[in-house]
Order: sequence, then structure tokens, then C-alpha cells
Amino acid sequence: MKRSVPDLMNASEPLVMVTAYDYPGARHAEAAGVDLILVGDSLGNVVLGYDSTAPVTLDDMIHHARAVRRGAPNTFLVVDLPFGTYHTGVTDAMRNAVRVIQQTGADAVKLEGATPEVLDVVGVLARNGIPVMGHVGLMPQTATAQGGLKVQGRDEASARRTLEGALALEAAGAFSVVLEAIPARLARLITERLHVPTIGIGAGVHCRGQVLVYHDLLGLYEGEEKKLAKRYAELGKEAREAIAAYAREVRAREFPTKDQSFVMKDDVLGKLY
Ligand code: KIV
Repeated sequence: MKRSVPDLMNASEPLVMVTAYDYPGARHAEAAGVDLILVGDSLGNVVLGYDSTAPVTLDDMIHHARAVRRGAPNTFLVVDLPFGTYHTGVTDAMRNAVRVIQQTGADAVKLEGATPEVLDVVGVLARNGIPVMGHVGLMPQTATAQGGLKVQGRDEASARRTLEGALALEAAGAFSVVLEAIPARLARLITERLHVPTIGIGAGVHCRGQVLVYHDLLGLYEGEEKKLAKRYAELGKEAREAIAAYAREVRAREFPTKDQSFVMKDDVLGKLY
């Protein structure tokens, strides 16, 4: 059964969230029994081939989230508001969040940061019945301003900013907060201070939930493993090997065999000669 916001907020067991971007991925996630699916704007990196999340548009997010909802009708669905869609005032943010909820069937939206402007948006959305997940620590949408895709919260100023940001998001009405790429001990402190669940990625074991990007979890990209992710499969290698085997068999005229071919009666064929 689909989890509700109060149910997620009061969960005593660790929450499991995974990203998905399309129908098959959503089906895998729902069949595996995750608590939440996130259509992350990591879409830009892992699916659309951009080198950052900044080019991802609201239309991109809606297009992919609709497919995810079709694949996972019974899982709590969170959709990222992409860069620029909640930075031009609360009216625009509200309009964009409503589009996401109405056009995708999402249960909540996620946005990054805890600036006064973002906190205003969180407050307006939450008061108008749109559940909001916050996101502090490393924030890919504005990573350039943060000095690149780096661990945050290592020095006192950055740790304090992260802690205060998470507390402010809760006070503004966020029902949960993602903590990305921060020291495990800071994540533990934030988790102890907040009443709403923290969901970690590269934030240690003490968060109340964890999130992984689908492609990282399944090893869809070969190469070095990211520090903040664990690979539970090597599907990228399997995919490459399978396609190479197919290519070999086509070139050797070993595929298709009789098993993949359709028959025709001799007399029908004879009439065509
Ligand atoms: O876009 C994304 O996939 C995310 C997760 C890493 C939390 O924001």
C-alpha cells in the first residue's frame, strides 16, 4: 500500500528511496518494495547525458515523472523541481509545483537549499497542501557556487549552515530533508535535532532513510564507483556484453535462428515464385 506523509514522518524503520526516470525503472522499484521513488533531476546526468542538472527543464521532469507514475502507481512519488523553477518567486514556484502534482500524479516535490527565498517557497507550498522534501549539504543544482561537487559541512561554518538549513526547512513545513554528501557525524546530529525524517546519500548510517540513484545502485555505468553510492549489480557490463554477443551473432549469421523465425507453407510460397 502507498505510504502517506504522516506514515513516512512517523516511520520507525529506515525509509528506502531510490530514483527512477522511466516506466521499467519504476516497475523494478515498486516490485522491490521501496518506500519512496524520487524522479531526481539527476535525470540530466544519468539519462539525458548533460554534465550537470542545470539544463533540466520542468517539461523534462513532467515527461519522465508521468512514465514513472505509470510504472509505480502504488509508491509514494517525489519529483524534483528543477533549477530555475522555484527561484523567481513564490507565485512561479507554486504554479510549477501544481503542474508537477496535477500532470504527473506525484505525491510531493523536492527542492534544494535553505535560503530565505527557498524557505518562503517551502512555506507557501506546504501551507497549500503540497508536501515538500528539502535538500541540504551538497546541492547539485548550485554546485558551482558551492565550489564543485564536494563534501559539505566539514568546517564549522559549513556544518552550521547545513544544520541551520535543515532546521529551517523543517520549521518552514518540509516533511523530510535529504542530506547529501556531508560527514556522518553531522548527519547524525541533524537527524537527532529534526523531528521530520532525514534521508541520506553519502551522509552515513544514522539518517532515518537512504536514497540511491538507480544507475549507481545497478552499476549501469562502468568505471569507478562513486564514494557516496554502493553498486549492488553490474548491469552496465552485462548490457555491453549482451549487445556485443548480439552483434557477433548477427555478423556470423547465427542470429536469428529458427526459434526467432516465422514459418510459411510451401504451397503459399510456391505461388510467389
Ligand atoms: O536528483 C537526485 O537524484 C537527487 C538525489 C541524489 C537525492 O536529488
